[in-house]
Amino acid sequence: MKARETRGLATKNRINEVYHPPMIDLNFSALQAHTKLAVSGYNGTTVPFLAAGFSRPFHRFSQDSFKGSRMTAVRSLAARVATLQPSATVEMSERVRNARAAGKRILGLSSGDPNIPTDPRIIAAAERSLRRGDTLYSAPAGLLPLREAIAGREARLSGIAIDPADVLITPGGKFAVLAALMATVSEGDEVLVPDPGWVSYGPCVSLCGGAPVAVPCLNGYDAVRLESAITPRTRAIIVNSPANPSTHVATQAELQAILAVAERHDLWIIFDQVYAEMNYAEAIPRLQSLPGARARTFIADSLSKTFGMTGWRIGMLIPPPGLAKAIVRFIGHSIYCVPPFVQAAAIEAFNLADEIIPAIRETFRKRIAVAAPRLNNVQGITCAASRATFYLFPKVAADERVVAKRWLDEGGIAVLPGSAFGDGGKTFLRISLACSDAELDEALTRIERFGIGA
Ligand SMILES: Cc1ncc(COP(=O)(O)O)c(C=O)c1O
Repeated sequence: MKARETRGLATKNRINEVYHPPMIDLNFSALQAHTKLAVSGYNGTTVPFLAAGFSRPFHRFSQDSFKGSRMTAVRSLAARVATLQPSATVEMSERVRNARAAGKRILGLSSGDPNIPTDPRIIAAAERSLRRGDTLYSAPAGLLPLREAIAGREARLSGIAIDPADVLITPGGKFAVLAALMATVSEGDEVLVPDPGWVSYGPCVSLCGGAPVAVPCLNGYDAVRLESAITPRTRAIIVNSPANPSTHVATQAELQAILAVAERHDLWIIFDQVYAEMNYAEAIPRLQSLPGARARTFIADSLSKTFGMTGWRIGMLIPPPGLAKAIVRFIGHSIYCVPPFVQAAAIEAFNLADEIIPAIRETFRKRIAVAAPRLNNVQGITCAASRATFYLFPKVAADERVVAKRWLDEGGIAVLPGSAFGDGGKTFLRISLACSDAELDEALTRIERFGIGA
């Protein structure tokens, strides 16, 4: 594909670099960037090496080489990692895990990890693959039968033809989003991210050297707002539908308006559809279905939520036609490949998709139907039934951080304040229904008793 100047793939030692320096040089410069320990007195030179306890000494120097030398520690982590904020969702999951390990009973309504055990037939497929000896590296782009299965399913659901050569297998949807950003964002570029929006969009943009620009979209994407956030540095728009945390499902007209903005400014679109099969009212419109969209749209998707496979770490990136060949170099130089036995499990998951997905969908539909009206009846909480995802995003007539803290400290119920997802989430709570029915019932009973405490 011939992209115009503003929409070329990222440069700066990344995806479409023409010359790939040998791996040892890459390691050396990465080391210099991340770990600076100046050692003076060694033949009058300054030598970077990894600190003891961090890893083995770098290159051909042993630690003994530095005995008696005067060391000045000037190490600091690179800003890209040092300034990274922890993921609010991961952090809360850790807190819940630790509290439970310490014997505390916590009702977990904070994590996006469905309590759906992976189907035994999927596990058996992984086991067969392992026993067959699929324990070595495999193709960085992914196994062809899996890419074919994904292309087939995507074509069926979005109505567009997908060449399996344009499908890349990634360790989860998160890495698919990161790979799309690695491919499109150069130093200083701006990316429009939804606010409230999934906690990892901003940090992933920053990791690629870009600047996330939050665009309010609590009740959907507004083309005028979107366009007013565009500057000459804007490279891409991240669109998430159905959305986490707001649960908003973008309409066809909304997607059409986003596409028109992207076309006017020649921007890439990263369309995150990891919840597209968790829909309860109607089929979810997909951006790539719109005429002309495919050439600028990266589709990020995953088996995590759809099949109850969060821990397997398997997802996919479908870049615009013809770009996969360049992006696969990033995969080859970072993760190399998704484990082949995990991919074998994913092939089996797609074989069983029409049986497994409706059952999971029904589980969440029932939980939403139970939980939304019960929450809505609590004084100070306004809660609509979500049309997609397994979250509720109720509005509370109080400071949402105070309510979330109080519920955790006094009620043993973990939920997330909407503001963890950006300013647009203020006065909302994100309540995940990924726990068991019994836990959900107990949590709702406690919430009914506690109220919001305002
Ligand atoms: C909106 C959104 N996109 C992507 C992901 C990534 O999921 P995974 O990496 O497990 O596929 C999540 C996970 O919570 C999410 O909520």
